[in-house]
Amino acid sequence: MNRVYNFAAGPSMLPEEALQRAASEMMSYGNSGMSVMEMSHRSKDYIEIYDHVVSLLRELMGISDDYEVLMLQGGATGQFAAIPMNLMKTKADYVDSGNFAHGALVEAQKYGEVNVVASSRDDNYTYIPVIKPENMSRDADYFYITTNNTIFGTRYTSIPDTGNVPLVADMSSNILSEPVDVNKFGVIFAGAQKNIGPAGVVVVIVRKDLIGQARKETPKIFDWKKQAEAGSMLNTPATYPIYMAGLCLEWLKKEGGVRVIYMRNQVKAKLLYDYLDESKLFKGTAAREHRSLMNVTFRTDSADLDAEFVKFATANGISNIKGHRLVGGMRASIYNAMPVAGVQKLIDVMKEFETEKVKL
Ligand SMILES: Cc1ncc(COP(=O)(O)O)c(C=O)c1O
Repeated sequence: MNRVYNFAAGPSMLPEEALQRAASEMMSYGNSGMSVMEMSHRSKDYIEIYDHVVSLLRELMGISDDYEVLMLQGGATGQFAAIPMNLMKTKADYVDSGNFAHGALVEAQKYGEVNVVASSRDDNYTYIPVIKPENMSRDADYFYITTNNTIFGTRYTSIPDTGNVPLVADMSSNILSEPVDVNKFGVIFAGAQKNIGPAGVVVVIVRKDLIGQARKETPKIFDWKKQAEAGSMLNTPATYPIYMAGLCLEWLKKEGGVRVIYMRNQVKAKLLYDYLDESKLFKGTAAREHRSLMNVTFRTDSADLDAEFVKFATANGISNIKGHRLVGGMRASIYNAMPVAGVQKLIDVMKEFETEKVKL
């Protein structure tokens, strides 16, 4: 069976090298005589795997000892609740830049006052809204952003300065895709299923001074302090996805790390956006200045033609190109593991389709 180019938004394509290594270690990890799936999470082998994953992440992102790195369950969605449970005393500032940002702020409203500093909801989130300093509450417990909006294909090109208010960022769809100065953030969290590894883990990077303030009704599983003390093992962790994350991070390190992958990601996105800008059939749906490097959203002028293209693409080895129902059209998710050749192939298929349709 030939592998396809999988443009899914997450779970998404993983580096082939990581998959092959996992296959080779499936029946026995090292000399253990068992698969990682069968290992106790308290075993020496597994603790070594876990520590290695955390240290790779620290190295690749430049995370200092001022931060805890947690590997938890409940996804990014779980953290939508954990964030206010751990940080909200009275109020928080939120930027409403997409469906997941909106979901996070709705969740936070259960725990205190939410000030929506800026929103692009009025235009179906096609852009990143301007954050006016006068709309920021200087006494907020934290300030919340979503650095890349997976569904709408937009991204922040600069990180807001929130002064002494801790900045909390959902980086689910662009973590490890471009260099980030972790020290600018109070909390960074990301569901693993795009640039980290398979689904099942959420990575939470939290500044140590922000730990230990959880509301008293916080379930222990969501309490960052209790999780940090327990090495993210208050319950049985997602052992296999964490092991797979390690293989994917090793691949990233071997490729040259975040700086090198960022260059490649820029090349891939430019190829696709340049073609969209010259195409007579397809057009990008996100505001140019906020175009995502990870999720490229586009469409034709007709929903029927969009559907026809999705079929045509699938028949030509391009999988999961259909857009999210909130936007329609198409979406190409081009995370770290998508090679330049995959993007080139997509463009070739789009060109072929366009030539046929524009001729008619
Ligand atoms: C930006 C963003 N935040 C949150 C989520 C939700 O993640 P999870 O399914 O891990 O809860 C996603 C999922 O695609 C996402 O893209």
